[in-house]
Amino acid sequence: MLEERIRCKELRDKIITADEAALLFKTGMRVGTSGFTPAGYPKAVPLALAKRAEHGDKIEITLMTGASVGDELDGVLCRAGVIKRRYPYQTNSSLRNSINNREIEYSDMHLSNFPQWVKYGFFGDVDIALIEAIAITEDGGIVPSTSIGNSNVYVEKAHKVIVELNTSQPLELEGLHDIYSPVNPPFRKSIPILKTGDRIGTSYIPCDPDRIAGIVVTDIKDADKELASIDDVSKRMAMNLIDFLDNEVKHNRLPENLLPLQSGVGSVANAVLAGLVNSKYEDLTVYSEVLQDSVLDLIDCGKVTVASATSLTLSKDRLNDFYKNIEKYRGKIVLRPQEISNNPEVIRRLGVIGINTAIEVDLYGNVNSSNIMGSRIMNGIGGSGDFARNSYISIFVTQTTAKNGDISCIVPMVSHCDHTEHDVQVIVTEQGVADLRGLSPKERAKTIIENCASGEYKNMLKDYYSKALVESKYRHIPLLIGEALSWHKRFSEIGTMKIKSKRKVI
Ligand code: COA
Repeated sequence: MLEERIRCKELRDKIITADEAALLFKTGMRVGTSGFTPAGYPKAVPLALAKRAEHGDKIEITLMTGASVGDELDGVLCRAGVIKRRYPYQTNSSLRNSINNREIEYSDMHLSNFPQWVKYGFFGDVDIALIEAIAITEDGGIVPSTSIGNSNVYVEKAHKVIVELNTSQPLELEGLHDIYSPVNPPFRKSIPILKTGDRIGTSYIPCDPDRIAGIVVTDIKDADKELASIDDVSKRMAMNLIDFLDNEVKHNRLPENLLPLQSGVGSVANAVLAGLVNSKYEDLTVYSEVLQDSVLDLIDCGKVTVASATSLTLSKDRLNDFYKNIEKYRGKIVLRPQEISNNPEVIRRLGVIGINTAIEVDLYGNVNSSNIMGSRIMNGIGGSGDFARNSYISIFVTQTTAKNGDISCIVPMVSHCDHTEHDVQVIVTEQGVADLRGLSPKERAKTIIENCASGEYKNMLKDYYSKALVESKYRHIPLLIGEALSWHKRFSEIGTMKIKSKRKVI
């Protein structure tokens, strides 16, 4: 059994326990691990490392991953006080709290930039690469599991490589991966992907066997991914998005089978893409960062012919179903490093339709995707900027309100800006679509209020905007900074977020 997975004979002598592997970590180290969403991240060694710390060993590390990972890595190490610094994206509640409490230094970055910055040495040396794999080839090549993320870069750069060979991940995953790593400027060449499904690299991460310090065999499964069920609001957003796409096709701005689709992370993104299952569209392709349940549904019903991403982030039942039917998906799914799945050059060449989710959107088209009230990190910018800036059409979806209607997601001015008005072309809510292409700030504000806001907040936004129009005369953008900021202050003061008052000018 293990011979099948560790094909390089000399490496079979390097099997060690997770506790032994944990002893290789020293305080101050920079550690790069596999993992992108709760898929394909190491689990056994982080659990052993946390145990070491809990028994009194002081270990503080910089943890770098592909993106978010499961609780056995981010949560457990955070609670044990092991993570001192974290790059480039996270979604873990313990970690989020520690970051917001300023116990952990966190820098969230564009997920396509981060790999090259590691390669350029911007963050210093990588001491250890800790990578989950399904197999090691005869030459030491590491075959990743359900995600690639930044694993190839960590393997390339690290002083030492530790492999977590996970036997709960089926060997049949081999062949889905396509590893390609651009060289640094000034020798970089164009990335030869001309179609969504093109394969340009190897099915494993090349690695000299001598650089592998140890192999830990484990069968701990990835954490379950839960997605909220698809509710009426999400269905309406999906319908509005599809109406918009229909109109683009009608006016010959998109082909009949659209262009490759990208969809962000989370329940809203999943629900919106799921709306395409019952649409008229055929022969669709997906060039995205993550493949959630809805993409598999689209492949199953024959609507999507090929899907490319860096991670398979499926709910528990969907993952089990996928494992049983991997052969059905072979040739239809390509997993790539995040430097390629999110690469601006490729996104622009293919003409990807970017569909990302906003926390809040302002009247001028700026989008906040990462910080609640401009200061409390939710997750991070992730790959949304990679796609928003470079896509054929950059669409943001959001519900008009959050927290059961207590907060408006359409605001006079975003409290934090991840995507400026220049990278946001279309906004979709359950109320409708604001097509901002070619519109001036004044026109954008009117369109967003009319088409995307709802109920009480629509009136409040109208009040604000009428006032802004009058009081900011002789200015290009009808913005009242003080009033716009007090909108956010108002929400924070509400505390319980219950709006008891009737309509009033803010
Ligand atoms: N004010 C306060 N809280 C808000 C809010 C607002 N305006 N808008 C959303 N939220 C809260 C929700 O209430 C929810 O909180 P909870 O977890 O306590 O229930 C949380 O943010 C997530 O929102 P939800 O509506 O469930 O949507 P989601 O799961 O689709 O996540 C983002 C939305 C924006 C947080 C998520 O998509 C994200 O992190 N995006 C940035 C990275 C990215 O886009 N990556 C993909 C690129 S390929």
